[in-house]
Amino acid sequence: MAKMWSGRFTQEASSLLDEFNASLPFDKELYLQDIAGSIAHAKMLGKQGILDPEEVEAIVGGLQQIRGEIERGEFVWDIADEDIHMAIEKRLTQLIGDAGKKLHTARSRNDQVALDFRLYVQESNRRMVSLLKELIDTLLTLARDHTETLLPGMTHLQHAQPISLGYHLVAYGAMFKRDVERFVSSYERHNYSPLGCAALAGTPHPIDREETARELGFRGPTLNCLDSVSDRDFALEILFNIATMMMHISRLSEELILWSSYEFGFIKMSDQYATGSSIMPQKKNPDVPELLRGKTGRAYGNLMALLTVMKGLPLAYNKDMQEDKEGVFDSVRNGELSLKILTKVLQTMEIDREAMERATRVGHLTATDLADYLVERGVPFREAHFITGRAVALAEELGRDLSELRYEELREVDGRIGPDVEEYLDLRHSMNTRNSSGGTAQEEVERQIEKLQKWLRELQEEF
Ligand code: ARG
Repeated sequence: MAKMWSGRFTQEASSLLDEFNASLPFDKELYLQDIAGSIAHAKMLGKQGILDPEEVEAIVGGLQQIRGEIERGEFVWDIADEDIHMAIEKRLTQLIGDAGKKLHTARSRNDQVALDFRLYVQESNRRMVSLLKELIDTLLTLARDHTETLLPGMTHLQHAQPISLGYHLVAYGAMFKRDVERFVSSYERHNYSPLGCAALAGTPHPIDREETARELGFRGPTLNCLDSVSDRDFALEILFNIATMMMHISRLSEELILWSSYEFGFIKMSDQYATGSSIMPQKKNPDVPELLRGKTGRAYGNLMALLTVMKGLPLAYNKDMQEDKEGVFDSVRNGELSLKILTKVLQTMEIDREAMERATRVGHLTATDLADYLVERGVPFREAHFITGRAVALAEELGRDLSELRYEELREVDGRIGPDVEEYLDLRHSMNTRNSSGGTAQEEVERQIEKLQKWLRELQEEF
């Protein structure tokens, strides 16, 4: 069949061109946005007297019928239609005749695709925020139960200072909060409608862009049409936001993988979210966090790909930009799945407090506390550092942890050490002395949890 744009052509398109040129196989994902945009456009054309009321009614009815056909799997997809916009318009004209041919008045596929894609990205921003909220809520619920659970805090993956598991989890809560803020701010920045921009320069028809923008839930129309039909910043931002979020997910996943190994033994993943080996019957593998870590790679790839596509494009629309969609669909789909399954993994995993506490008694985690103890008694820090080093050497010699040494033993190392030293070497005491703002002390962690919960509640109300 002849193409919609075939007026000036004398030969038919080759099927290879269809295969290469078409975006229909993937942009059919935008059918809901395309239909919503067309309904808003048709209604506005009616209000402005550009279309008759009967024509608007026929168009809206026809589009609703098409939505039903697509949802019931009855719609006939033909790659020769090129994209979702022309596939729907062709079907509309089949259904309602000449009125269907008027829908495209004061519009081009350039503003149409910019609108559909932006609507999709805006909805995705919202879904990401709501899934992130569930994840943060889960982290905070867990954190609340574990403000007293000791965990070896690490730097360089080496035991450093005692912290609580709750503190560790709130750290991830703070990371995911920033992710939420990024999705919200992208949403706000791009909450403007490109519809009515037509090909690139606007239209001579007396349209009302304010009207369609409001109808579609935007704050208003975009400022400049030349920019609007060639802008893909909204897509780049969601790709960046997802890439960064996946980086956070990947770091947490790495810890879950380590923690579920025999060497750590801090957690056990639920059978629901772990997998077995096809050859080694004893194995239980942390496939989910591994895959989360792996999927981070493609999220980065999708961002890099679109940045590269957009680089050097002259204004305004260029066909290169059709390459914008698949990576975004992929990142959104995988980002959502990742958030959902990570939340489940956290909710169902078993936490071994004992194993965490046992690990905290290895590596002389209260060495800094002994040095601070001496400093408080007037010993210069460098000297205190040296004396503590000798105390650690003694503990090693005795095959115990520094926190397990008695006053009588430590007195031998330095005469200025008093009987109250044992309290200072206690791991939980050490954790609770770090009560400066942002620290690991129980009360301070409780304050951090409350602060994040308050933020979550307020976000609930406004977004
Ligand atoms: N399928 C196209 C895309 O996804 C729609 C816009 C086409 N515009 C054009 N002037 N060829 O980008």
